[in-house]
Amino acid sequence: MRLDKFLANMGYGSRKDVKALIKKKRINVNDEIIKKADIQIDPYQDLIKCDDRVITYQEFIYIMLHKPSGYLSATEDNKQKTVLDLIKKQDKLLDPFPVGRLDKDTEGLLLLTNDGQLAHDLLSPKKHVDKKYIATVEKKVTESDVDRFSEGVVLNDGYHTKPAQLSLIEDYTVEIIITEGKYHQIKRMFESIGNKVLYLKRISMGSLTLDRDLDKGKYRELTKEELTKLQSK
Ligand code: URA
Repeated sequence: MRLDKFLANMGYGSRKDVKALIKKKRINVNDEIIKKADIQIDPYQDLIKCDDRVITYQEFIYIMLHKPSGYLSATEDNKQKTVLDLIKKQDKLLDPFPVGRLDKDTEGLLLLTNDGQLAHDLLSPKKHVDKKYIATVEKKVTESDVDRFSEGVVLNDGYHTKPAQLSLIEDYTVEIIITEGKYHQIKRMFESIGNKVLYLKRISMGSLTLDRDLDKGKYRELTKEELTKLQSK
């Protein structure tokens, strides 16, 4: 990896800022002052310091975001706000992206990472990762709806969903667990039984549960424990 990229990724400013640091002889690699920004370093083997401070390499970032309504689950969009607009510049240096999509009007747990392998594992249909949501719907939910969901329902494009676990919380509020992630899946599942989702919030994905202390629009990095659990599935 190039030294200037390493330094920029670790929060030492733009490539230009990094060049300036190097010019001022503030960067050293394996105790040698470096004069060129474009040298190759091994971030795991080489000892890189700014002044006397060792710079520890972080390859991946894992962010738990409490997504508010009104933001697209995308990294950029010409017209609309995306969830990346909620992330501070210094936390975007490693290019995190949303793992899967929540609709623009859906709230709740969204994981952002640059770890493609973890993202793939969580989204792979073969892994059947549980996703738990709270939904408020237009019409009262009945035990027969619970039964229908437990067998899977047929969506408007003819797709027969996998079984979903529906639990009544109140007449119009349910908890629903699905293991797939089809486009507008929960909304379309309710449509298929003549109901309509008015509000949707994701509260967990696999072992990862939305932190109750995270206000809407706020985020934090995953704890080591959360990450280990998520990776071990
Ligand atoms: N199902 C939906 O309909 N929308 C979401 O955002 C997530 C699941």
